[in-house]
Amino acid sequence: MKKKKISFELSVFESFDELSEDRQKLMLAAIEARKNAYAPYSNFYVGAAVLLENDEVVIGNNQENASYPSGLCAERVAIFQAGAKYPGVVIKSVAISASSKKNTLSEPAAPCGNCRQAISEYEVRQASAIELLLMGETGEVLKCSSISDILPLSFNSSYL
Ligand code: THU
Repeated sequence: MKKKKISFELSVFESFDELSEDRQKLMLAAIEARKNAYAPYSNFYVGAAVLLENDEVVIGNNQENASYPSGLCAERVAIFQAGAKYPGVVIKSVAISASSKKNTLSEPAAPCGNCRQAISEYEVRQASAIELLLMGETGEVLKCSSISDILPLSFNSSYL
């Protein structure tokens, strides 16, 4: 038996201001989208903005439902909309911003497992990395250079 270690590196930006101009623009789109989240049950608001290779930006936000599991996370609303509107266009980056009614979120919220899996499908399909930028309402921004970094050993179409 041998052991294998899987690790990854994150880039940590002290604040939004440290991001490049184009990534600031993308994060601003996520922040704007977050403000239109429909989250009356959790009071937890998430906005996502997807940057495509053709420079289009597609946004999404969480959409909750009285029947809780019928709702959908911001990341999937955004990435499915990108897939629906621009099929086959490479996705470069996804910016995500979260906030809560309870308190000011000064740390990023990481995407849930289902959203990681959904984003991973697009990364595998396009065979190029999808970057993630994660932010709360204020504070640090984390950058993962590939969704596979935060979904190691993922299930994908190669198994089928
Ligand atoms: N949520 C997202 O939109 N993205 C995530 O990655 C985590 C959770 C939403 C779902 C639900 O509307 C609320 O946040 C609380 O879970």
